[in-house]
Amino acid sequence: MALADDLDLARAEAEAGFAAAADAAAVETVRIAFLGRQGRLKALQDTFRSAPPEDKRVLGPKLNASKAAIEAALQAAQTRVSAVEIDAPIDLTEPKPRQRPGSLHPLSVLAHEIEDVFRSMGFAVIDGPHIELDDYNFTRLNIPENHPARDAQDTFWLDHPQHGANSRLLRTHTSSVQSRIYQLAGSGQLPKDQPFRYVVVGKVFRYEAIDATHDNTFTQVEGFVVDREITVAHLVGAIRTMLGAALKRDDVEVRLRPAFYPFVEPGFDVDVRAPGADPSVRYHRWMELMGCGLIHPDVLAAGGIDPTQWSGFAFGMGLERLAMIRHGIADIRVMNGADLRSLRQFAAG
Ligand code: PHE
Repeated sequence: MALADDLDLARAEAEAGFAAAADAAAVETVRIAFLGRQGRLKALQDTFRSAPPEDKRVLGPKLNASKAAIEAALQAAQTRVSAVEIDAPIDLTEPKPRQRPGSLHPLSVLAHEIEDVFRSMGFAVIDGPHIELDDYNFTRLNIPENHPARDAQDTFWLDHPQHGANSRLLRTHTSSVQSRIYQLAGSGQLPKDQPFRYVVVGKVFRYEAIDATHDNTFTQVEGFVVDREITVAHLVGAIRTMLGAALKRDDVEVRLRPAFYPFVEPGFDVDVRAPGADPSVRYHRWMELMGCGLIHPDVLAAGGIDPTQWSGFAFGMGLERLAMIRHGIADIRVMNGADLRSLRQFAAG
């Protein structure tokens, strides 16, 4: 019976093959050759199937015994090579994988510094919702439906804008937090008849074409003060103090140009400059940085604050812009891009 001899031969070769295999990969090669779906044993089983019934009675047990012996040899070989691998010598000279400590994003570093400056001037640091109602983002800020100022701040709507004051949108500016605070103060949910100072550092969203100086997601710093007899001088003083600290110098010049924002009157755009002649340093020339003004009486009144008793100032600034000035970054997309090669350069400490 040729099949009986073939089974003996296959078994002997498999056992020899497993015995000679030095590692897991070699064991696997032998396993595939003998026990794999197209291996020797499979072929022998096919031959067995077509054998005459009287031969099968003898060959059946032999086939089973051969298969069991090959599987046992596989088992033994696997145990042997895995033991070898555990015993492999440890290379004590191999350098360990490099570990890099994380670092704060340059925007976070700057935000924390600015928050500290404002805290030192008596401001409380707050934020409001990113998903905002039309009412707080626009209407209460003197930007009613169909007002052209809305076009300048096209945004991402979660409801159709025609739903009016309750339509949800991604806030286009942190001025929405002014609306919320005025409402709280005017309805007695903040200490009654008290002045207040808040600073907001938070994300804002606009439907913008993205380029080196525009992104659809950016960060604003908004400061606002409500007190008796607030003047533009208070506003300029606060801005100058903040910029000096953020740019780490005390000779920052500030220039106000008249500008229109519906929620302030008068309104200004602020340019900054600091002495120096390095043409690569953008703020050595006048550079526009933020909008500001005295809070429009109607905006205070919309929140229930009596504008004949109270007045205030507000400003809003793009934090990315300031970070770009401070670090000499030419492209705003570095800020939201997750390229650690860029961001690590500004890691503190
Ligand atoms: N909210 C304005 C903007 O995003 C900036 C601003 C804030 C202007 C406060 C005046 C006062 O463009």
